[in-house]
Amino acid sequence: MGRKFNVAVVGAGLVGKKMVEVLIEREFPFNKIKVLATREREEHIAGRIFKVEKTTVEGFNGIDFAFFAGTEGEKGASQEFGWKAVEKGAIVIDNGGDFRMHPDVPLVIPEVNSHHLKNHKGFIANPNCSTIIMLMALAPLHKRYRIKRIIASTYQAVSGTGSKAVEELDRQVHQYVKKEQLTKDVYPHTICFNVIPHIGNLSEQFPGYYSEEVKMILETRKILDCPEILVSATCVRVPVFNGHSEAITVQFDSQPDVDECRKILSAAEGVKLVDQPENAVYPCPIDVSGSDDVFVGRIRKNSAMENALDMWVVGDNIKKGAAQNAVQIAETMIRMNLI
Ligand SMILES: NC(=O)c1ccc[n+]([C@@H]2O[C@H](COP(=O)([O-])OP(=O)(O)OC[C@H]3O[C@@H](n4cnc5c(N)ncnc54)[C@H](OP(=O)(O)O)[C@@H]3O)[C@@H](O)[C@H]2O)c1
Repeated sequence: MGRKFNVAVVGAGLVGKKMVEVLIEREFPFNKIKVLATREREEHIAGRIFKVEKTTVEGFNGIDFAFFAGTEGEKGASQEFGWKAVEKGAIVIDNGGDFRMHPDVPLVIPEVNSHHLKNHKGFIANPNCSTIIMLMALAPLHKRYRIKRIIASTYQAVSGTGSKAVEELDRQVHQYVKKEQLTKDVYPHTICFNVIPHIGNLSEQFPGYYSEEVKMILETRKILDCPEILVSATCVRVPVFNGHSEAITVQFDSQPDVDECRKILSAAEGVKLVDQPENAVYPCPIDVSGSDDVFVGRIRKNSAMENALDMWVVGDNIKKGAAQNAVQIAETMIRMNLI
């Protein structure tokens, strides 16, 4: 019998609940899972009833792994409790963006840069969902051809904003069908039958970009250890319940061979090639939602830029883009004897 771990999940929203499901589904070696949020209550998760506790520093006593899936920012869980949980002896794996660029915090996609875990200081960050999905497809190609430049346009599901946004799209669809006035609380515009080119807050560092786009730029460089890679992104919210899609143009140091790229991606861990455009076969978010892997299709030589490819990449933002990646980080740390 191997060692078993005491686990806390902070946040009982879309990602927190998915985290509990993934821990059970992947048979993570836990003794017990404690769910913490802003207030006490009972929640039905993965067919079980969990007594949710209010998050306190003492709540991390005896916890080995604390998966943070609380809201980001000043009043969010990670800023308030993250490093205090580390002081209590827990390994913190944080889903939010608060500490991703902190020099002492490894930012890890296990299939891509698990070596960054080696000198961890107890706090590990999960990258942004769009970055994870993009780099699952690009990192295997980077090893062979070296990436110079990336231009990405995303088509991001409302689940990426959290449970209130899922309710908003659902409500607006019902209001539309009933010919009622569409009401909005979460997004600045109606999301039902619309697309909104705005995710996050306007950046000061990159004028004109929103913060989701900046995350894709900075996180890519940190994960691939390549500060020189040029990245530009336009992140768009679309009326899809779950599953992010990305149209990616990637330029390499030398001309990539399309067939070889297909072979590399077919063999890559956690990646599935779905690429038969002649039969209308390519990944779509409605099919990919719920899957563990990232799906790639529409691979072709870019006709406007030398040494470049275009591709279409789709992944479940709540699973591989958040909860599953975090659990994989913990599994990898156990495998590497880092706890
Ligand atoms: N959704 C995605 O695709 C995605 C992908 C990658 C990363 N993330 C990140 O994952 C995190 C969670 O996202 P989500 O979609 O699950 O959000 P969500 O559905 O809005 O849930 C947020 C959860 O955080 C809890 N919470 C908020 N402030 C807290 C505090 N100070 N202390 C303890 N708990 C607190 C809330 O507790 P109550 O239930 O008690 O209100 C709620 O359960 C965010 O940081 C998000 O950026 C999300």
